[in-house]
Amino acid sequence: MFDADSLPYYDPAKERKVAVITGGSSGIGWYTVLHLYMHGYVVYICGRNSNRVNEAIKDVQREAQVRVEQRKPGPGRPAAHFGSLHYLHSDLSDLKCVERAAAKLRKREEKLDVLINNAAAVGLPYKLTKDNFEIQLQTNYIAHFLLSMRLLPLLQKARGRLITNTSVCHQLEFRYWPLSQGWNYRPNMVFTWLRYAMSTTASIQFTKMMAIKYPEVLCLSIRPGMVMSTHLFSYWTRLPIVGIFFWMLFQIVALLFGVSYEQGSLATLKCILSPHLTTDKDNGKYFITGAVESKPSYVANNLDDAASTWIWTVHALRDRGFEV
Ligand SMILES: NC(=O)c1ccc[n+]([C@@H]2O[C@H](COP(=O)([O-])OP(=O)(O)OC[C@H]3O[C@@H](n4cnc5c(N)ncnc54)[C@H](OP(=O)(O)O)[C@@H]3O)[C@@H](O)[C@H]2O)c1
Repeated sequence: MFDADSLPYYDPAKERKVAVITGGSSGIGWYTVLHLYMHGYVVYICGRNSNRVNEAIKDVQREAQVRVEQRKPGPGRPAAHFGSLHYLHSDLSDLKCVERAAAKLRKREEKLDVLINNAAAVGLPYKLTKDNFEIQLQTNYIAHFLLSMRLLPLLQKARGRLITNTSVCHQLEFRYWPLSQGWNYRPNMVFTWLRYAMSTTASIQFTKMMAIKYPEVLCLSIRPGMVMSTHLFSYWTRLPIVGIFFWMLFQIVALLFGVSYEQGSLATLKCILSPHLTTDKDNGKYFITGAVESKPSYVANNLDDAASTWIWTVHALRDRGFEV
C-alpha cells in the first residue's frame, strides 16, 4: 500500500479541480471523498438521500481538519488547501434523476477532471426499477453509463479521468451472457451473484469501450479489495435468523482477506491523482487493491463482447427515450 500524501495536492485558489463521485457518502467512496477534499478538489457527491450525504460532508470536513492538525510540520508536508464538497441529488435507480443531475452539473461547471462511478447495489433479490432494468444492472452499470455519457463533454474538455469501481465477482461470468439474460431464478442466494457479476463485467467492458472511443479521457477500472464492513452486504446480515451466520461469515472473510475502508479507496485515489498514469500507455487498464495493474476476466477483456454490451445498452436506453 502507498501513502495518499504522496499524490499531488492542488490549491483551489490557483487551480480548480472538479470531481464527481457516486456513492460518496459511505464506505470506500467516503474515504475517496476525504482524500480528494484534502487534495484540494471540488467534489460533487451524487446520492439519493440528502441527509446521509450532508452528514457525510460534515464528517469528512471534521476528519480532514483533525488529520491536518495531527500532521507533523516539516518540509514536503502538503499545505492544507481544502477543496469544497457539494451534494448532487441522483438516485441511480431512476434514469431521469440521473439525467437531471448531469444537467445540473453541466450548468455549474465548465469542465470535469474526474468522474468516479463508485456506487453499487449488491446481492439484492430480483427487482425491476421504474426504468424496467434489473436493480443491480441499472445501479451498477446502466445508470453510470448514462451519467458518463452525459458528462463526457465536460470530461473531454478537461482531458479528465473516468474511474469505474468493480469487483472480483465479475469473474463469476465465466462466459459471455447477453445483458437480456435476466437470471431471474431461485435461489436468490445463487442467482443474485450472477446478476451482480453481469453488472460488474459490463462496467469493465464499458470502461474499455470508453477508452477506445474517447482516447483523450483516461478510463480505468478498479477492483478495490474486500471491505466486508461496508453497507454493501447489509441485505444479507439483516436477514432474520440466518443474518447472524452471514455476519459471522463476512467477519471471517474480512479477517482472512479484508482490507480497511481507507485501503479500499487507495486504488481509486491513485488512479485519479497519479501523474504517472497517462492516456497513451494506460487507457482501459484494470487495477486491483493498492492500484496494482492486473487483468480482468477473459470475458471482461474481450473486445467483441464489450462491443456487444455497448450496442445492447445503447438500444436499451434508446427504447426508454434516452439517446446516447
Ligand atoms: N466492499 C467490498 O468488499 C467491495 C468489493 C469489491 C468491490 N466493491 C465496490 O466498491 C464500491 C463501493 O462499495 P462500498 O463497499 O464502499 O459500499 P457502500 O459503503 O455500501 O457504498 C455503496 C454506495 O452506493 C450508494 N448507492 C446504492 N444504491 C444507490 C442508488 N440507487 N442511487 C444512488 N446511490 C446508491 C449507497 O448510497 P446509500 O447510502 O443511499 O445506500 C452507498 O453510498 C462499489 O462499486 C462496490 O461494488 C466493494
